[in-house]
Amino acid sequence: MSMTLTKRKPAAKRSSVRKKTAAKKTTKKQGGRTKQNEKAKLYSSLVVQLLSLLKGEHDLTANAANFSALLFNSLPNVNWAGFYFLRGDELVLGPFQGNPACVRIPLGKGVCGVAAQQCETIIVPNVHEFPGHIACDVASNAEIVVPLFDGERLLGVLDLDSPLIGRFDDQDAEGLNELATVFVAHEEGLGL
Ligand code: SME
Repeated sequence: MSMTLTKRKPAAKRSSVRKKTAAKKTTKKQGGRTKQNEKAKLYSSLVVQLLSLLKGEHDLTANAANFSALLFNSLPNVNWAGFYFLRGDELVLGPFQGNPACVRIPLGKGVCGVAAQQCETIIVPNVHEFPGHIACDVASNAEIVVPLFDGERLLGVLDLDSPLIGRFDDQDAEGLNELATVFVAHEEGLGL
């Protein structure tokens, strides 16, 4: 399940906009579907690429570093991608791509700490509206955090930031969760 802070326009406003742009709507809808298909294809290709990067290698640091580089370089409009691993009752920075980031995040603090504590993927369309958001890069405006599990056990989180407000949606949540599952299944038994 994902949590968002998306603000929707009032229904009345939405319907008047719909009437005025009725002619263009079909095209817009088709455009939306194309975008969805492209995103689905991108995530499918990332699964294949991740499996290939992980193949035959079981060093956690190396694999997490390559995974974050894959995400950072393949997903558009992402300015930070990386890991925080659970150490005791706090999250500690792992391999990442992007600007230097805060090293320790207590459970329940920031987007990462809340996602870890609630064991839920959190999509934040606008980080400036998320109470307690921890700002590591002034360029970040949107964020998605995916918890990593080994069965029931929380291992840490995968965190992505974007300069684009509303950058992440449910499709990203689904795609990143699939990639995270592939990663954790491969690392199983390595003391993550
Ligand atoms: N924004 C995160 C902190 C980590 S950085 O984005 C890399 C948070 O609020 O937990």
